[in-house]
Amino acid sequence: MNFIPYSKQSIEQDDIDAVVETLKSDFLTTGPKIKEFEDALSDYCGANYVVAVANGTAALHLASLALLKSRDKVLTTPNSFLATSNSILYVGAKPIFVDIAEDGNIDLDLCEEVLKKDPSIKALYGVSFSGRMLNQKKLAYLRQTYNISILEDNAHSIGAVYDGIKSGSCANSECGIFSFHPVKHLTTAEGGAITTNSKEIYEKLLMLRAHGMVKTPDMKPWEYEMRELGFNYRITDIQCALGLTQLKKQVGFLQRRYEIAKAYDKALENTNVKPLYTYDGTSSYHLYVVQVDFTKLSITKEDLFNTLKEKNIGIQLHYIPINKQPYYKSLGYGSENTPVMDNYYRECFSLPMYPLLSDEEQSYVIKTLLEVLR
Ligand SMILES: Cc1ncc(COP(=O)(O)O)c(C=O)c1O
Repeated sequence: MNFIPYSKQSIEQDDIDAVVETLKSDFLTTGPKIKEFEDALSDYCGANYVVAVANGTAALHLASLALLKSRDKVLTTPNSFLATSNSILYVGAKPIFVDIAEDGNIDLDLCEEVLKKDPSIKALYGVSFSGRMLNQKKLAYLRQTYNISILEDNAHSIGAVYDGIKSGSCANSECGIFSFHPVKHLTTAEGGAITTNSKEIYEKLLMLRAHGMVKTPDMKPWEYEMRELGFNYRITDIQCALGLTQLKKQVGFLQRRYEIAKAYDKALENTNVKPLYTYDGTSSYHLYVVQVDFTKLSITKEDLFNTLKEKNIGIQLHYIPINKQPYYKSLGYGSENTPVMDNYYRECFSLPMYPLLSDEEQSYVIKTLLEVLR
């Protein structure tokens, strides 16, 4: 059996052809493929505006520049990749970590308790963890009642739907972001995008993506004006050509993820490996997360990782609580009351989940995992 990672990209001949064609075209960057990709994403997720950028972290940074001011307080989750809360720090704002609920997402009821006590909180950065969106009714309620801005980090959840609301549509948020890293649903190698329904935010993001620079029709041919301190967070045409062919196959990618999720659900029934949630048609399954109570077993989590690796299976852990990272501790974080996250971290790991995972490979993963845990 070849090594089975927890995730990997699906690249086929049409993807390669599209990239090669763009390499032969006049524009490698700042060309037509970028808007084409943005329009296709906008059609797919239902947001009015999309700005494609260099990676998901750049998307978070630009969205934070658009939404936050220095020293703003922002509720966020410890259960994410570092980039989510780092983007709050990038703009001099202050993350406040709130415990998670049983599904791995930030606990919106706890968020309300914190918002009630501190009316100066300006925003909430949630993550559609593993592919499952936040409760949209609660999000809408918090946004309206407490007058906060919402950012949805949808790096895991392109294709997910909650009560008919598509991930990235920003029905109840100011901004959403996607990542197109190879482990995600669809890839542009590195790449990301911000989605929004606000024209004002959209225009600001376009400017910030390109050095804060503006060029208007009334200017002289050589003129441009820098109006804000922006960045070069451009994505290339080569990447967007790849994104376009990938997006065309997203329906098939999702179907395969659902099949894999259902097969895991079935195989793990009545075992000591508990899925974070079982298939109900809402998650887009970037990750298939399970939990095991290691206190009841003779094997540690570290042993499990190492033993499976020796057997060519790469499980992964999503995530180490961000607030417990040394850098965050140096800022005074780390002692928040997050019992659900702490227990989740002890028990969780993610099983291989990607469209090219074959039935045979999945059976091998399940059989080996259950044998090692027995
Ligand atoms: C939840 C989440 N947010 C943001 C990011 C950052 O995306 P990127 O790697 O494209 O910068 C990731 C990537 O792993 C992620 O998982």
